[in-house]
Amino acid sequence: MSKLSGKTAVVTGASKGIGAAIAKALAAEGAAVAVNYASSREGADKVVAEIIAAGGKAIAVQGSVGKDGDIVRLFDETQKAFGGVDILVNNAGVYAFAPIEEVTEAEYRRQFDTNVLGVLLATREAAKRFGPDGGSVINISSAATTVDIPTASVYTATKASVDSITRVLAKELGPRKIRVNSLSPGAVETEGTHAMGIIGSDLETQMVAQTPLGRMGQPSDIAPVAVFLASPESFWITGEIIAVAGGNR
Ligand SMILES: NC(=O)c1ccc[n+]([C@@H]2O[C@H](COP(=O)([O-])OP(=O)(O)OC[C@H]3O[C@@H](n4cnc5c(N)ncnc54)[C@H](OP(=O)(O)O)[C@@H]3O)[C@@H](O)[C@H]2O)c1
Repeated sequence: MSKLSGKTAVVTGASKGIGAAIAKALAAEGAAVAVNYASSREGADKVVAEIIAAGGKAIAVQGSVGKDGDIVRLFDETQKAFGGVDILVNNAGVYAFAPIEEVTEAEYRRQFDTNVLGVLLATREAAKRFGPDGGSVINISSAATTVDIPTASVYTATKASVDSITRVLAKELGPRKIRVNSLSPGAVETEGTHAMGIIGSDLETQMVAQTPLGRMGQPSDIAPVAVFLASPESFWITGEIIAVAGGNR
């Protein structure tokens, strides 16, 4: 039997990049998946179509993770389609780097609203709706929290907050059999890192040079670890920050 058959997963920000790969990998192990997106309807529909073509179950649900009403609707629609919820992957995230002299209130709020408030709101809804067997929350953090990249102060602060939330909620929700872990990717080639101009830049060369396994990560390097953290195979693991970064730290 597949590792996740009979389970339902919500994956935030799954229209592209790491989230899309995780959604497809969870579905390949039998989970029904809600593919959340903010604006890329086409991307989300493509992920859903691929899952269904491979024999899986998925729906696309629009919603911005930093908005309370959108999060409630995301979980309502997921439950309406599939019954319960067992797995939450808090993947939706935004990033932009700037020297401290150029940090703005607006950019701080944009990154914290999505990367931190989004995690809190989605986990709140999941915790209310997980059944008596508990559930698994997987927070996509970042190796930026240990690599300490100059100009990434705001982004790194959001992900350090995510790691703190992971540890607190692992203790708070453990008695209800809800596990909470952070998965921290190193640099990964995605639509996001392409759009930001990292791919092909000096920063990419530098990041690869700092990575013992000697290359950029791919979404397919990250997805199997999310499947492991979602599955019963990791039932004794909670409150951990797991680097999936080719050794870059
Ligand atoms: N790529 C890396 O090198 C790297 C490394 C470490 C950690 N991470 C983390 O991994 C996660 C995914 O990164 P990625 O590179 O795959 O990003 P990406 O290619 O830019 O994709 C981001 C995804 O998040 C969604 N999203 C953005 N804002 C949202 C919001 N407010 N509500 C709901 N969804 C939203 C986007 O949806 P739309 O397309 O609809 O806007 C998209 O599906 C992020 O949390 C990021 O911080 C990435």
